[in-house]
Amino acid sequence: MRQRRGIAIGVPHACESIFPVMNEAATQRVLKGFTYGLYALTVKHEGDEHGITANWVSQASFDPPMVVAAVDSTSRTIELIRDAHHFAINVFHSEQRELAEKLGRPAATAHKLKGIKTKPAPVSGVPVLADALGWLECRVVATLPSGDHAVVLGEVVEAGVEHEAAAPLTAAQAGLTYSR
Ligand SMILES: Cc1cc2nc3c(=O)[nH]c(=O)nc-3n(C[C@H](O)[C@H](O)[C@H](O)COP(=O)(O)O)c2cc1C
Repeated sequence: MRQRRGIAIGVPHACESIFPVMNEAATQRVLKGFTYGLYALTVKHEGDEHGITANWVSQASFDPPMVVAAVDSTSRTIELIRDAHHFAINVFHSEQRELAEKLGRPAATAHKLKGIKTKPAPVSGVPVLADALGWLECRVVATLPSGDHAVVLGEVVEAGVEHEAAAPLTAAQAGLTYSR
C-alpha cells in the first residue's frame, strides 16, 4: 500500500480484502506438509498440575534461548500459563508414543499428570517429565492472540537432559496429528 502525505492510497473499504479469495484447499494442503516434533507442555498453578501434548512448538531465539508454543485460547492450559508465568516444554523420546497420545486427549480428571513420573523444575517448580528426552523450563515473556490460539513466548531459565542417547519422537513417526 502506498502512502502520500499520510493518506493511504488504494485502501480497500473496511470489509474488503486487498487479496483475492484465499485458496482454502491449498492452504490446508501446504499446512499438512509442515513437519513437527512432539512435546509435552506442562504447567502448574496453585497445586493444579497440567500437561498437554503440543506440536505447534519451535525455538525462537539462540541468545537468549527462547521458544514459542501456540496454545488453544479456550483451554485451561493457557489460563494456567498466564497465571503461573512459567511452563515447561518436554521433548518426548521415540518410546513415548503412548504418553504423547494420552496427554493429547482431554483429561478425564483434574489431575492429568497423576500416575506420570514428574519432578519439579528448579526455578519455578513446574512439573517436568522425568522420563522424557529432556525439558526446558521457561519464563513467560509474552502471550499474543493468534486466531483461535495464543502464541506463548518463553525464555529458557533452566534445562535438563534425562535420556542423552534417546531419539526424539516426531509426529509423523507417532502417526499423531493435531486436528479440530
Ligand atoms: C499430536 C497432537 C498435537 C497437539 N498439539 C497441540 C498444540 O500445539 N497446541 C494446543 O493447544 N493443543 C494441541 N493438542 C491438543 C491438546 O493436546 C489437547 O487439547 C489437550 O490434551 C486437551 O487436554 P485438556 O482438556 O486436559 O487440557 C495436540 C494434540 C495432539 C494429539
